Amino acid sequence: MNVLLLGSGGREHALAWKMAQSEKLESFFIAPGNAGTSDYGENVNLSPTDFPAVKKFVLENKINMVVVGPEDPLVKGIHDFFLKDNELKNVPVIGPDAKGAQLEGSKDFSKQFMMKYNIPTARYQTFTQETISNAFSFLETLSPPYVLKADGLAAGKGVVIPNTIEEAKRELEDMLGGKFGASSAKVVIEEFLKGIECSVFVLSDGKSYKILPEAKDYKRIGEGDTGLNTGGMGAISPVPFADAAFMKKVEEQIIIPTVEGLKKENIVYKGFIFIGLIKVGNDPFVIEYNCRMGDPETEVVMPRIKSDILDLFEGIATQTLDKKKLEVDERTAVTVMLVAGGYPGDYKKGHIITGLESVMDSISFHAGTTEKNEQIVTNGGRVIAVTSYGKTMQEALNKSFENAEKIKYEGKYYRKDIGSDLKNWKP
Ligand code: AMP
Ligand code: GLY
Repeated sequence: MNVLLLGSGGREHALAWKMAQSEKLESFFIAPGNAGTSDYGENVNLSPTDFPAVKKFVLENKINMVVVGPEDPLVKGIHDFFLKDNELKNVPVIGPDAKGAQLEGSKDFSKQFMMKYNIPTARYQTFTQETISNAFSFLETLSPPYVLKADGLAAGKGVVIPNTIEEAKRELEDMLGGKFGASSAKVVIEEFLKGIECSVFVLSDGKSYKILPEAKDYKRIGEGDTGLNTGGMGAISPVPFADAAFMKKVEEQIIIPTVEGLKKENIVYKGFIFIGLIKVGNDPFVIEYNCRMGDPETEVVMPRIKSDILDLFEGIATQTLDKKKLEVDERTAVTVMLVAGGYPGDYKKGHIITGLESVMDSISFHAGTTEKNEQIVTNGGRVIAVTSYGKTMQEALNKSFENAEKIKYEGKYYRKDIGSDLKNWKP
C-alpha cells in the first residue's frame, strides 16, 4: 500500500513509527512531516489544507490511502473533497467527513449531539451577541467557576474558565466581540464539572468500533497543574483510575450512543474519535470530542497497540473493522514533552538539538523539529516527546526522565511531575 500521512507533529511521528511497522506498507510519504518522520518515509513539502495540491500528489504517486493527523483538513472537508472527486473517490481517507468532524469543529453541534443521544455531559446553553442578556441570566444560574467555550476551532485556546461572575461576563463580551475571530461568534456556556480527566480513543468505520488504549494528558505548563494551558506536556497510558467498571460505563453510556448517534445522523464516520472525559465521582462525563488522535496521547497510545495499524485502517476503509483484531500491550507507556523556553507564550525556533543519539530504551518522537544544514533544530513550541515503556508507570517515567536529560537545546523545559498525581491513586 502507498500511504500519505498528513501532519507534522509528535502525533504524526508516532503514527508514522507505527505505520512503518506494517508489512502492508510500500511507499510512505508524510506531508509536511518533521525531522523524525523522515526516518520512515519521504517528507513532502505540502500543506494538508491545500486540497488541490494533495490531489495532484496522490495521483502522481499512486497513493492508496490518506491518513489525516490534524483536525484542520478534516473540518475543512478533505474527506468530502476526495469523495466528490472522480479520480480520488476510491482512495480511502482515514478521518471523518466535514459533518463528522463537526464533533470537534463546533462545540454547539457536539453539545446538541450529546443532548439528543443522552450522552452524559455538563449542562449548557449557547449564545450569540444578540442573546447576550440571556447569557448573563444563564451565568447567574451557575456557580463559579464558569466555563466559556468558543464554538469553533481556536487552536486549543478557545476554552476560558473565569472564577468570578464579573470576569465571566467580561470574558463573554470579549469572546462574542471577536476575541477568537469568527470562532467565538457563538459561545457555549456550561456548568463546571469537578473531577479527574482522561481521554478515550475509538476507531470507527461507520458501522462498528474498536476502543484503543485510554490516556491521561497533562495540559498545564507548570508542575502541579499550574500556569497556562498547552497542547499537552506529557501523557500516561493506561490510566489507573479508568478501571474496568469505569470503562464499562464509558462504553455503554458514551461510546455506543456516540457511534449509534452518528449513524442516526447519517454520518458515516471513518476515523478516530477522541473523547475527552471527566470522572465525577465514579461516572464519566464528556468534556469534548475531537475528530482525530490527541497529541501527546498518540505518543503513548500507538506504542501500546500491538496489531498492525494499517490493517485496522483497511478495516475502516472497507467497513470490516469488526473482523479485525486489536491487541494491546499490557505495559505502561509514558511520554514526557520537551518544550521550547517561553512556550506556550513566545519562543524562539532554530536551536540546535543534540544528544538524540544517546537516548537509550526510549523513543524520541519529534514534535517540532526540522533539519537545517544537516542538523536537527527546534521548529515549534513542543519539541520532542520522550516515550518509554515500563512494567510499572514509575519504571517508564524513570527512563523518560533520564533520557530527557540527555537531549539538549537552548531553553529546554519539561515537567518533572508527569504521572505523580497517579502514583498513589485511590478512588
Ligand atoms: P476543551 O478544549 O473542551 O477540552 O476544554 C479545555 C479544558 O477545559 C478541559 O481539558 C478541561 O480541563 C476544562 N473544561 C472544559 N469543560 C469543562 C467543564 N464543563 N468543567 C470543568 N472543566 C472543563
Ligand atoms: N492533547 C490534547 C489534544 O490533542 O487535543
